[in-house]
Amino acid sequence: MSIDRIGVVGGGQMGGGIAEVAARTGVDVVVREADAALASAARSRVEKSLARAVERGKLAEDERDAALSRLSYTTSVGDFDGCGLIVEAIPEDLAAKEEVFRALDGVAGPDAVLATNTSSIPIMRIALATGRPESVVGLHFFNPVPVMELVEVIPSLATSEETVARAVGFAEALGKRVVRAPDRAGFIVNALLVPFLLDAVRMYEAGHATAEDIDTGLRYGANHPMGPLALCDLIGNDTMLGVADAMHAETHLPHHAAPQLLRRMVEAGRLGRKAGRGFYDY
Ligand code: 3HC
Repeated sequence: MSIDRIGVVGGGQMGGGIAEVAARTGVDVVVREADAALASAARSRVEKSLARAVERGKLAEDERDAALSRLSYTTSVGDFDGCGLIVEAIPEDLAAKEEVFRALDGVAGPDAVLATNTSSIPIMRIALATGRPESVVGLHFFNPVPVMELVEVIPSLATSEETVARAVGFAEALGKRVVRAPDRAGFIVNALLVPFLLDAVRMYEAGHATAEDIDTGLRYGANHPMGPLALCDLIGNDTMLGVADAMHAETHLPHHAAPQLLRRMVEAGRLGRKAGRGFYDY
């Protein structure tokens, strides 16, 4: 059964990207934001991204118009009726995610897949906020969503195979490559990527090298598309800190512990690209 209407909770960097990709693929999308101002800002970001795709010759004007006509915005999860899949993409705060999933449990149809784009919180823990943990699954997209091909599908111990199959089918219909990842700290990609990025922050914090030299080293010495500190700025240093804290709380491994500098930068509002300042100025 194909999924032709979805709900997205949170229209930020990740939720907006998921909404855009789904609308471009022909799926009707309802995005829920906390209030009207945030909903309007979320819509503008997707409009801008679609306009850029048209400018770069990647999208025809009529395709942009069709994608925009499939996108609607709301402040109420009550508008998710008829959604075959609802994906939560709010910040990494377990209590906030539990509140969202309790609300979704009350409004989603009995066959709906309830997905979370969490980077680091165990899917099992989020699923327990609902009375239907078999329908809850991790659907982890990568930033920027329109560009990055991968989606991790993460079943918890309670997720049914039918839910997994529907989540995989949905991600593949969006043109993504899917890997099935375990419900363990960092799943597959962040379990490897985040310790590496944190080590780059530690190297910079220790005065071992400049940010530019660390990034140039990895770009031209290891062919990474961007250096690790620039990537922290792209992901968002607040997101990086949230992921590191969640991984460290699970594993207590020293290489999952957030460097103090990362915490101080978040406290100072140096969140990366979205804030205009992080390891670099934008
Ligand atoms: N939306 C849509 N398209 C975008 C985009 C965006 N936000 N950003 C870049 N693009 C497109 C551009 O349009 C361009 O397309 P074209 O080549 O067809 O014209 C292409 O991507 C390349 O962009 P640029 O030429 O502007 O810049 P770069 O070549 O430096 O690429 C990048 C930018 C795609 C971000 C690249 O540097 C990259 O792949 N970086 C690594 C990103 C990464 O590792 N992401 C994963 C982060 S981890 C994560 O998300 C998990 C979470 O849980 C923490």
